[in-house]
Amino acid sequence: MSESERVTGTVTVTENSSRDVPRAGALHDSAFLRACRGEAVPHTPVWFMRQAGRSLPEYLKIREGIPMLDSCMMPELVKEITLQPVRRHGVDAAIYFSDIMVPLKAIGVDLDIKPGIGPVVANPIRNRAGLAQLRALEPDDVSYVTEAIGLLVAELGATPLIGFAGAPYTLASYLVEGGPSKNHENTKALMYGDPELWQELLDLLAEITAGFLKVQIEAGVSAVQLFDSWVGALAPNDYRRYVMPSSAKVFDAVAGYGVPRIHFGVGTGELLGLMGDAGADVVGVDWRVPLDEAARRVAPGKALQGNLDPTLLFAPEAAVRAKTEEVLAAAAASGRGHVFNLGHGVLPSTDPTALTRLVAHVHEHSAG
Ligand code: CP3
Repeated sequence: MSESERVTGTVTVTENSSRDVPRAGALHDSAFLRACRGEAVPHTPVWFMRQAGRSLPEYLKIREGIPMLDSCMMPELVKEITLQPVRRHGVDAAIYFSDIMVPLKAIGVDLDIKPGIGPVVANPIRNRAGLAQLRALEPDDVSYVTEAIGLLVAELGATPLIGFAGAPYTLASYLVEGGPSKNHENTKALMYGDPELWQELLDLLAEITAGFLKVQIEAGVSAVQLFDSWVGALAPNDYRRYVMPSSAKVFDAVAGYGVPRIHFGVGTGELLGLMGDAGADVVGVDWRVPLDEAARRVAPGKALQGNLDPTLLFAPEAAVRAKTEEVLAAAAASGRGHVFNLGHGVLPSTDPTALTRLVAHVHEHSAG
C-alpha cells in the first residue's frame, strides 16, 4: 500500500469527506512526521515514551481493577488511555497503548505483567524444546489491535499515532530470564553458548515482531518504534553478530510501507550507529549522549529522538527549562530532524503538570 492510500484509508472512517482530504495532508505535514523525515518544522515536535500510564490520575482511575494485559485487549479502553496524554499535555503524537509482551501473549505464551515487577514468563526458554512456545503471529490473533487503532485514527485526525513493538533481543531477554533481569546472565549464556539456537530464537521473534508491526501499520499508525530497551547490555561487536541481523529483518519487513521507523534503546551510546544501520529512519537516544555527538555516530540522513533525562522532571522548573534548552541547542547543532522526547520512559511518580509545562516550553522555545 502506498503512503497516500494508507493515509486516505485512515480518514474514510470519519463522516465528512470534504473535510478529510485536507486532514490527510495535515497528518502527512504534521510536525512529528516532518521531523522524522528530516524536513523543516514550525516547532520541534514532542511526545514521551510511557506518556500513557501511571503518571496520570485519569489512567489509574480508568484502569482500576483491570489487569494490564486484559486492558490491552479492550479497544474502547485502549482508545481512551491512548488519548489521555494527548488531551492533557498537547503532545505532537499519540503512542498506541499496549505492551511489548502483547504479541507473545497473543500467540499463546504463558505470561503475565505483574504490577511493580513487569513481564513474568511461566516457562522460560532455555533450550530447543522451549522454542515450541513460539509461532508466527496472524492478524486474527490481535484483532483487538486493529479495532483499537481504527477507533484511534478516526478520533486523532491530524495527530499521528505511533505503533510499537519490542525488538528481538529485548523480548528474548524476558523469555529467557523469565522476567526482568539486571545482568541478563541466562540470555547471554544462551547467546554465547548456543549461537545456533539463539539465532533461531531471534529469527522467530523477528517474524512475530514484524507481523505485529504490519498489523498496526495496516490498521493506520503513522510511524512505528522498535523498543530494544535492554540491548545496551551488549558490546558493539556482539550486537553486530548476535542481534543486528534479526532487528534488520524487522525493519526490512516494514520498509515498503514508507512510515518512519524509530529505533530506541537505553545505554546504547556505543550502539547508536549500528542501531541506525539496522534500518531505522530515526534513532532514539537516551540522556547519556548529547544529540550533536549522537549525530556524529549515526549515519547521515537519519533523524534523532530524545533526550531529556526523565529524572529531571523531579528538579525545580528552572533546571528543567535550562536542560530542555540544552537538548534543543544540541539538536539544532546536530543538523538532523529532531523529535523531542525523554531519554527513557516517564517515571510513574512524575508530576503530570511538569510534563504539560515541558511540552509548552519545547514548542515555544523552538517555534521559528
Ligand atoms: O509509551 C506508552 O505510553 C505506551 C504504553 C507502553 C507500555 N509498555 C504500557 C505499560 C509501552 C510503549 C510499553 C513498552 C514496554 N513494555 C517496554 C519498552 C519501553 C521501555 O520502557 O523501555 C518494556 C521494556 C516493557 C515491559 C514492561 N511492561 C515493563 C518493564 C513494565 C513495568 C513494570 C512495572 O510495573 O514497574 C511493564 C508494564 C506496563 N506497560 C505498564 C504500562 C502502563 C504498567 C502496568 C500498570 O499500569 O499496571
